[in-house]
Amino acid sequence: MDNIFLFTIYSMILFMPAYIANPGAVITGGHFRIDMGKSFHNKRILGDGKTWSGLIGGTLIGMLSGLIIFYILELVHSSYGNYSSNLLGALYVLFIMSFGSLFGDIAGSFIKRRLGMKRGARGSILDQWPFVIMSFIFLLFFARAFFIKFYGDTIPIIVLLIITPPVHRGVNVLAHKLKMKDVPW
Ligand code: CTP
Ligand code: MG
Repeated sequence: MDNIFLFTIYSMILFMPAYIANPGAVITGGHFRIDMGKSFHNKRILGDGKTWSGLIGGTLIGMLSGLIIFYILELVHSSYGNYSSNLLGALYVLFIMSFGSLFGDIAGSFIKRRLGMKRGARGSILDQWPFVIMSFIFLLFFARAFFIKFYGDTIPIIVLLIITPPVHRGVNVLAHKLKMKDVPW
């Protein structure tokens, strides 16, 4: 690759659906609790904030956002590459990326509950990193060729982990101001 800076930005843009999946879950969420209200050692397994409607809806919204990116890159004949050379392959990669992201979000809530934090409590890094890390782990295991091509040098992953906390905070403060969220985190 001739320009490592541009390629890093490009790889980060391809990862945007993992970020969009989360607000997608906020919009579609709230129905059918995944832990069905059950507890483990007197603490909720996941809590009321993790629902099937959010997991499924967020995954679909993440995939849809990625599909838009896929078609734009097809349209401009991007030479840096795409999710896949065909629609089905792209949908597969986007499913792994988006579902992995929301699976990570659920894992973060699982850890928050084990630490005794109530649903919606400010989790800082536990709200900000698990979805990024889990999405990359899912891509590494289930969409390896895509992962190696765009994230194999780990530079975009490191940059994303550094910028995610301030971006996450900014988006949530904005969502709070617009009354879309009860709390600014
Ligand atoms: N949401 C959902 N299902 C998911 C993820 C999110 O229904 N799988 C919805 C819930 O309404 C949740 C909101 O999106 O309250 C915000 O998500 P998040 O901040 O991840 O959950 P919290 O309510 O803050 O709970 P936690 O402390 O477990 O993070
Ligand atoms: Mg939260």
